[in-house]
Amino acid sequence: MTYSPPFTFLESPHWEDYALLDSGDGLKLERFGKYVFVRPEAQAMWKRALPEAKWKNADAVFIPSGEESGGHWDFKRRVEERWEMKYPPLSPHLQEDGKMPGGLRFWAMTTPGRHLGVFPEVAAHWDWFSNLIHHAVRDKHKEVNVLNLFGYTGLATLAASAAGAKVTHVDASKKAVGWARDNQALSNLTERPIRWIVDDALKFVQREARRGVKYDGVILDPPKFGRGPKGEVWEVYKSLPTLLEACRLCLSDNPLFVVTTIYAVRASAIHVAQAMDDMMEGFGGKIEMGELVTREQSAGRLLSQAVYARWESDNR
Ligand SMILES: C[S@@+](CC[C@H](N)C(=O)[O-])C[C@H]1O[C@@H](n2cnc3c(N)ncnc32)[C@H](O)[C@@H]1O
Repeated sequence: MTYSPPFTFLESPHWEDYALLDSGDGLKLERFGKYVFVRPEAQAMWKRALPEAKWKNADAVFIPSGEESGGHWDFKRRVEERWEMKYPPLSPHLQEDGKMPGGLRFWAMTTPGRHLGVFPEVAAHWDWFSNLIHHAVRDKHKEVNVLNLFGYTGLATLAASAAGAKVTHVDASKKAVGWARDNQALSNLTERPIRWIVDDALKFVQREARRGVKYDGVILDPPKFGRGPKGEVWEVYKSLPTLLEACRLCLSDNPLFVVTTIYAVRASAIHVAQAMDDMMEGFGGKIEMGELVTREQSAGRLLSQAVYARWESDNR
């Protein structure tokens, strides 16, 4: 058999509140709502397109400390502790139905780890699974149960929830779950069925498998390295196969989708797709893989942010 699932450079073209303004010389210039930031981007090996004055005008610059994620923000102007951002539209279908007139609303914040509470390039996945969920719920009257692992500030959880799914959100950080719940309130989704769980992703899924809990959709956004609340070690290359195997045991008889996104590792999308192929053996459906990319406004170049593989049922 020749292994060649479709490979896509997936963009997230619907953002209004986020823009990659320019990139180059190991840096990126981005707008998050009303503020503009400069962050390191080692892979930007080309020259900047915008004039120096535009870069100098940024509200804050992240100065890395040399360690992988450490460093500090050098503020050039006052930046609020947190500010609101939105992501409309979640999917044209949701808009048509008037379910999410305001789209997703969430809080952005500068953090010591250089991130700002949102990874804008994964919005392509929100659009994709929102559509799948929405059609399954509306056209097939199916109850869609989604598991979101390494859920961070909850945006994928809220996207799935707004589309009509029941969602279980798991993250090791109490603080991240608190932030996600604030985003739930801001998005007016407090009435939606969402279980917020602070736990180690692998331990949680293994427990769910023992209990016989089943999910129709699984979202995995694991970091390269992480720790569970009790110090459980997560190392993507070693831990991912075990986690996918545990997730397989939790799949319903007729699952809808699975998506795995991996950042900051020297992994090819092919390897993620092949791992997911093992996981989804016997379920039919189709796997697609590729890179999550952002197109800069200045010169239209693409910045690759992560690799992904995703599976969807052909029995929708
Ligand atoms: C959103 S993910 C990865 C973010 C981004 N994709 C990246 O790699 O930089 C990071 C989240 O995983 C959580 N996390 C790390 N280790 C974990 C573990 N063992 N179990 C559950 N969540 C974990 C962190 O608390 C954090 O919110």
